[in-house]
Order: sequence, then structure tokens, then C-alpha cells
Amino acid sequence: MNLANRNLVTIDDLSNGEIEALFSLADEMADSPRTQSGVCQGQIMASLFFEPSTRTRLSFETAMLRLGGRVITAVDIGATSLAKGESIADMAKVVGSYADIIVIRHPWEGAAKVVADYAGVPVINAGDGSHEHPTQTLCDLYTIRKKRQTLRGLRIALWGDLKHGRTVHSLIYALARFGATMLFSARAGLEMPEHVLGKLTTEYGYRSIEVNALGEEAKRGLFPLDAMYVTPDRPHQPAMFPDIPGFSIQIKGDIETLKKHGINASLHYNISENEFEIRLKKSEIDTLYVMRLQKERRASTEEAQELKRNYPVVDKRLLKGKEFKKTLVMHPLPRVDELAHDVDDDPRSMYFKQAAYGVPVRMALLGLLLGAREVPIPEKGDSSVRKVDYPVYAGDSKVKCPNTNCVSNQETEVRYIKPEFKIVSREPMTLRCVYCDHELHPQYVASSDWHEGKLENKKYHSADSYFARKIKPGNLIIFASENDAQGHHFRPSSYVKQ
Ligand code: NCD
Repeated sequence: MNLANRNLVTIDDLSNGEIEALFSLADEMADSPRTQSGVCQGQIMASLFFEPSTRTRLSFETAMLRLGGRVITAVDIGATSLAKGESIADMAKVVGSYADIIVIRHPWEGAAKVVADYAGVPVINAGDGSHEHPTQTLCDLYTIRKKRQTLRGLRIALWGDLKHGRTVHSLIYALARFGATMLFSARAGLEMPEHVLGKLTTEYGYRSIEVNALGEEAKRGLFPLDAMYVTPDRPHQPAMFPDIPGFSIQIKGDIETLKKHGINASLHYNISENEFEIRLKKSEIDTLYVMRLQKERRASTEEAQELKRNYPVVDKRLLKGKEFKKTLVMHPLPRVDELAHDVDDDPRSMYFKQAAYGVPVRMALLGLLLGAREVPIPEKGDSSVRKVDYPVYAGDSKVKCPNTNCVSNQETEVRYIKPEFKIVSREPMTLRCVYCDHELHPQYVASSDWHEGKLENKKYHSADSYFARKIKPGNLIIFASENDAQGHHFRPSSYVKQ
């Protein structure tokens, strides 16, 4: 496998096979870290950390030094020309002319993609706002693989701040590709964001159900908190739990019993009622992944304080539950109060290992992206990747990404970034920002196929109309509002809802 000159902006930049191959190289790096000093000799890594970091930055820098390379670094936006109003693109071009590879952490979502678009050298995303943190995911997966020997078909519970925790976003995309069953356990205000769930559905064929839809008894057996449960739709594996209407589940038994559990069951199912109960209660968890409250991403300190008051804690007592008997307890660190020190000596605790694996994993990654090392991809590796190439919308309208923290909405960046969206669904019309993955549901659209000399045909339509769905992606025009459409001299068609 030759990964030379590739970027790692999102975990989807690596296929399953490439991840597994990278891990074999990481094994080699872990076995003999002190004998790798010839691998990247003469190469320079720029380490740009515009948000606090201990593990990610220092493990990247250690990795480069172990490989015999050198490091240049900037850690404070205030000490760079970004503070003078320079765009990220200009900074990327300049740093790309000094260094052979760039590692960047930045508070804006999508910032790493912009750097990758302009640097001309490989770029690694070390965390962009609440969006993604793909190299933490590599460390997480490497840890799981070391303990479980496989990444396939795991049952993983994610706990804590799932809304702003970027590490869990990258992690669930990767786990989905390896066919995991995921349980999201988060209090109000901390839930997995809609756009992340949307991506799980459109890009990985997952379906989610609110556990609140289950009755109290079922919930108790499932997990101690309210939760969102996501289960793979494909490949076909018997789902243990029912889904939202429209999803056909594989649970057999008495419909009345399912109803008793609060399950809206116009469904077919193929295990006995008894077995259904046992499965609900047995629900063993392979991995419990804990996140701290990302207080720096909250709108106000009051909001952060309020969320902190009820923040769930993982401690010795919780881990006594039988579903956690063989659970790996993971955390990207830093921890604050959400993970008690009384579990540090527990053999199930993995978090310091995750941090330590940061060096060999990042050594392998740097060696591969710099083209200094190559490794064969295991043949079985790619079986469950399900990547969809969606058409991209990059029209000239006033349509903007709804995420105010997206790089495409920042004053210094709007000068040159044109918002771009993947058209991920027509029913309902759904666009996904190529920078930050947030979703947009436009109300009004038109086709550029209107003209043929007839201005009276320049009409716009409701995005959910039959006609709108027939417009070819290449002809699609999207409007931010009816005013926007009329400003472009389009008139409402009969497909505009009044
Ligand atoms: C994480 C991050 O920065 O997103 N830390 C890390 O890189 N290990 C998690 C966090 O800060 O909570």
C-alpha cells in the first residue's frame, strides 16, 4: 500500500484495509521504536496546534523525532499571522513550502480540509472544532484490536458529551464501517448531533432508535441511562432491537409482548419472545468510551456549569454491572470528573494505553503519508466499506452552511471559500457541507435547464416537490429563500407550496 501524498482529514480518508495495514506497521514501530531513525531522515513536520493539546501534539512530535525527522511548531494563533487576518489558505501555502507534512489542530470545523486543499503537502487533521479527530480514532481502534484481536462486529457504548466530542464522531464512522453495534448514552444537551446521525444513516446504512421508545423493563436491561441505539442495517445480521417505523427487524415473538415493552411493532421477528428478553438483559458491552464535557465549546459558562452538574460518572460501582464484566474502558483523555480514579488500576481500563499507542500509530502514519514506508493491504480488509460518492453542489447562490463554526462561514475565509455541499438525499432534499458535515434542508430549488430562450420558464419549485426530485444534480440550483430565488429573477412554479 502506498499512501504517499495522501491527507488524513476525516477517518473516511482511509479504507478499512488501509487502517489494518497501518496497524501492522504500527506493531513494527511499537516493537522497535528506537531503530526507526532512518525512516524520515531529512523530512520536516510542521506541528500547528491552535488549541490546547498534550497527547496529540507531543506524540506526533515524538513520532517524527523517532523516525529521524525534524519538527517546526506553532501553538498559538495569536503568535501567527492568522491573528493579523491572514486566511488559512495563505498560511497553508506558506507552511507547505517549508515543511514536508503538516499536522493541524484548529477550533474551526473544516479548517483541516482547507489546509489540505491548499498546502501541496500531506495534511493530518489533529482535531477541527467539534468535527473530527481521525488520528485519535486510529489510537482507539489500535487499542481495541490489541485487546480483542478484531475490529469487527463490536458492541460499543459511548458515554458523555457526544455533541461536541470530535473523537467520538470519527470513531463511530470507523466503527460503523467495521459493523459495530453502538449505544449512545447521553443526557439532554449532550446527544449525538443530528448531522452525525444523518451521516450514519446515509453513508453507512445505519438506523437509529430512541431507547425511550422501549419500556422501562427493557431499558433497565439495556443500559442505566436513556440512550440512542444504532444498529447496522446492512450487512444482514439479525438485529436485536426494533427500529423506527419503516425498518424491518428480525425479532420473533408475540406482538403483544413487544407492545408491552412500548415497542411499536408492526414488524416481523424471528427469535422467541423469551430470547428477546434474554438478549435485552444480556447486552454485554465490549467497550465503554467515555468523553469529558467539552466545556470550551459551550455558548456560555452558565450552560457548561449546568451540564457539569448532572454529568454522568463512570466509576467502580457502575462497572460492577454484569454488562461491563469484560468491557474495555476507554477515554481519549484528558479526563476531568467523568472517569473516577478508582478504576485506574482495573485491568479493563485502557486510557493510558490509548495515549501511549499514539506514538507507534502516528509513526506508522507519518512514515506512510511521507512515502517513506509501504505496507501490503490485507485482502479481507475492505469488505464492509460502503463509501458513496455523492454529487457535489457548488452553486453561486446565497446558500450557506448552517454551522456558524464552519470554516466556510468565517470572515477571513469567505473571501475565497465557496460553500460546497454533497447532495446526500432528494427525499427530503438534504445537502451535507463538505467542510464540516452539517446538514441543510433547502426549501426552494430550480433547474438550470430552464432557459432555451424562454425567460418565462425561469421558475423555482419547492424542494420536496415531485418536480424538484427530477432535476439532474448538474442542473440543480438551490436558493436560501424565496427572496433569493426572486432576486435571481425566478418566479414561483405551480410546485411551490403556498
Ligand atoms: C481529545 C480532543 O482534543 O478532542 N483529546 C485528545 O486529543 N486526546 C479529547 C478531549 O479534549 O476531550
